[in-house]
Formats: sequence, structure tokens, C-alpha cells
Amino acid sequence: MIKAEKLTKIYNKGQKTEFTALKEVDLEINDGDFVAVTGTSGAGKSTLLYVLSGIDSYEGGSVTIDGVELGKLNDVKSSKLRNEKMGFVMQDFALMEDFTVLENVMLPLKFAKKKAKIKEQAMEAIERVGISDLANKTVNQLSGGQKQRCAIARALVAKPEVIFADEPTGALDSKTSAEIMEVFEKLNSEGQTVIIVTHDPEVAKRCRRHIEISDGKVV
Ligand SMILES: Nc1ncnc2c1ncn2[C@@H]1O[C@H](COP(=O)(O)OP(=O)(O)O)[C@@H](O)[C@H]1O
Ligand SMILES: [Mg+2]
Repeated sequence: MIKAEKLTKIYNKGQKTEFTALKEVDLEINDGDFVAVTGTSGAGKSTLLYVLSGIDSYEGGSVTIDGVELGKLNDVKSSKLRNEKMGFVMQDFALMEDFTVLENVMLPLKFAKKKAKIKEQAMEAIERVGISDLANKTVNQLSGGQKQRCAIARALVAKPEVIFADEPTGALDSKTSAEIMEVFEKLNSEGQTVIIVTHDPEVAKRCRRHIEISDGKVV
């Protein structure tokens, strides 16, 4: 469903600071996959995630999602595709601290047509990550692990085809990190495609497929 062919990302092309962060990367991610993208710091993991999801552009090769080539879409079409098909979980949670869990998880549905169902749909996502009892607490009252569960609920509330997570356990201790991986494992067992970028071997071990990046190349 996601296919990269000879994918090349060049930052600051044509300038003195030009840097090729991805070098002719070929890969395929199928529906239902549970993939760890591993590699050392600076290898190009986050870049790969941004480019595969259309957050950032690419300079060579192609990325195709369900047969649609990302490089051929304009900004509006590309962000529409992202909203419809992708959910994102980041290391620093990126939640609204003064909003409740429910309010945070409802945010991606702000433009949905069936307004009446929004709360119900958000509560369903919150339940799937195991924090129903915290729905009406503000995020600033939560632990790191609870915040990350909230961020995962927000990522999956719009029923994306694929969830991208960039170092989702990077700010967590090892016990909490294992608990968050259980959440991803459960979602994947329910059919959710999950792609996790991590430099942590313990996290990678729990994924079903590994793609290792070194110096901008798949090894
Ligand atoms: N906006 C940018 N401009 C220039 N170089 C960048 C930019 N973002 C990342 N890089 C460089 O690209 C390489 C890969 O970065 P990144 O994908 O963030 O690595 P990782 O996530 O594996 O740690 C690094 O050498 C980094 O310095
Ligand atoms: Mg990174």
C-alpha cells in the first residue's frame, strides 16, 4: 500500500548546506504490517517518516500510496490524503496541555460531517488505548505514559489506514515504554498498520518487520 522506489531526499538542494538524507530507498509497506524503522541518530529515520507520509517533499524517485504518487499531488490534495489515511504519534506527545483527553482526541474530527457522532467516536478511541477513566482529565494532570496513550487515541480516532510513530517511547522509562508497545501490538492485532521509528532495540524487537536505515540507505 505504501511503496517507495529509489526515494531520494535532499535538504537545501543547490545550497552550500546541501545534504542527501535518503539515498535511493526502495521499500514496501503492506496493509496490516507492524514495522520498526531502526538506525542510529542521524541515519534518516525521521526523514523517511516525513517523506513517506507526505509531510515533506522528495527530490528523486517516488512514493506511492494506494496507487497515488505523492509527488504529483498539490498541497491541498496531499494534506487531504494525510488527514484521511494517516495518524501520527510523536515523541513529545504534541497535545494541548490545558484541554481534556476527550477534547484532544476530538480535535482531528473537528471538520467531520456527522457532528453527533464525534464524541462517541473519540470515546471509542480512548477506550481502545485503555484510558476511558481519564477522558475528562486535562492532559497536564497525566503521566508520560497516559499522555502517550492519549496521543495514540488522537492518532487513531479518524480511523487511519496507517499510524506513523516517531520515537513514541523516547520520553518514557522502560516499563512505561513496554506498556505503550502493548498498545501498538493490540492495535496491530486488530488490523491496524503501524510504522514505528525507533533507535531502541527493545522497541524494535516487538515489531514484526524491521527496516534498518544507515546513512540514508536501507541496509
Ligand atoms: N531540515 C533539515 N535540513 C538539513 N539537514 C537536515 C534537516 N533535517 C534533518 N537533516 C539531516 O538529515 C540527517 C537525517 O536526519 P533525521 O532523519 O532526523 O535522522 P534520525 O531521525 O535517524 O535521527 C541528519 O544528518 C540531519 O542532520
Ligand atoms: Mg529522528
